[in-house]
Amino acid sequence: TQGAPILVASNRGPVSYALDDSGGLSARRGGGGLVSGLSAIGPEAGALWVCSALGDGDREAVRRGVAEPGVRMLDVDAQVHADAYNGIANSVLWFVHHMLYQTPLEPVFDAGFRRQWASYETYNHAFAQALAEEAAEGAAVLVQDYHLALVPRMLRELRPDLRIGHFSHTPWAPPDYFRLLPDDIAAQLLGGILGADRAAFLTRRWADAFTDCCHAVLGPGIPSGTRIGVHGLGADADFLRERSHRADVDERMAALREQIGEGRRAIVRVDRTELSKNIVRGMLAFRQLLDDEPEWRGRVVHVAFAYPSRQDLAVYRAYTAEVRRVAEEINSRYGTEDWTPVVLHVEDDFARSLAAYRLADVALVNPIRDGMNLVAKEVPVVSDDGCVLVLSREAGAYEELGDDALTVNPYDVSGTARALHRALTMPLDERAERTKRLAAAATALPPAQWFLDQLRALDQPS
Ligand code: G6P
Repeated sequence: TQGAPILVASNRGPVSYALDDSGGLSARRGGGGLVSGLSAIGPEAGALWVCSALGDGDREAVRRGVAEPGVRMLDVDAQVHADAYNGIANSVLWFVHHMLYQTPLEPVFDAGFRRQWASYETYNHAFAQALAEEAAEGAAVLVQDYHLALVPRMLRELRPDLRIGHFSHTPWAPPDYFRLLPDDIAAQLLGGILGADRAAFLTRRWADAFTDCCHAVLGPGIPSGTRIGVHGLGADADFLRERSHRADVDERMAALREQIGEGRRAIVRVDRTELSKNIVRGMLAFRQLLDDEPEWRGRVVHVAFAYPSRQDLAVYRAYTAEVRRVAEEINSRYGTEDWTPVVLHVEDDFARSLAAYRLADVALVNPIRDGMNLVAKEVPVVSDDGCVLVLSREAGAYEELGDDALTVNPYDVSGTARALHRALTMPLDERAERTKRLAAAATALPPAQWFLDQLRALDQPS
């Protein structure tokens, strides 16, 4: 066989399989920037996406030899995957890069951690091996994210002929925080990514933090063979504008309008129920708005969509419960017969998210830290009548959208409440002007271009 000329590797792939009661398998295509980006080169380019089998349906598909064209799923031992994904990637690396630890108690890097780390190495090695098998001579391989930080170095050893890129979709921690990790692990992670020809990030800030970590941990810093790049993934305007005007979105809008109530303003947020998204402080800020500016009582609704995420982890389950508890508490304290202050939806529904984007008066995007945050970029594109963006300065999107958003310190609940008030009282013409500029900035680098830019940059000699 000739092998693939372009390969993408990520933990979560573009498709997942569900098993029905009679043992049938159905495939479901996922969304996201990478999926639409890769579609830019078209299937005829012979690209291959190597990803992980995640659920029972995926594992059964691998066992039966069922596969979508252009996708290879790796069925790594379930325990190895659980250690690597839940243990190291999501409980350690995600926490480091988003600075989520409560350091008096966590992290504790003990023998249990070392066992999980061995699984992380095994898991990365399985990817390196599969990529080495599948890649054509001189192929371009784009490795994605913190799950696969060791792959570039491992793959380089197996296949020195390949051109390898690594892309981080998360923030990168500053050195003082990154060095919570044991020294040998910190060095291995950086050295793993430095095995690539290019290490790329969503913003200059995260790229600089990576460089700073290399200096702090490795001494000499970035070796001459590795280039650092920045590609700020943007929203897919064509797709969003078309998709958000289909009948199912119109239906969801009617239902949401009913829930919000005639003549009321809507402060919208849409997130995974993710610790870094700061959903609880957003609700506390909404509550403070009702306290500080009582004229808004009965006149505004906080529409919060918090979709299930990483529910294998106890801390995510606890956070999900806390989000519900705070929403209920606000509703029982302030709600009236015909006004529910917080409308919380927890079932994932893309059409309903788009409906909320269209009718939002204010979008609240207040993460503690976020690699980019595409909600901040999608809302201005989809909005019907303009929408004020209240944006955390700790989101990657701040670099591009900070001028026309109302920006907040995500920990400052009072400051966020004031920004919400300012957003609700902004003149409509100013709101429309800002939305227009936000939409332009948000779509500067659409996914197809983002993907092609990375391929092109990999072609350039170092
Ligand atoms: C972030 C990460 C992705 C990840 C996604 C969803 O955006 O950068 O790599 O796929 O979260 O998280 P999950 O754990 O469900 O894949």
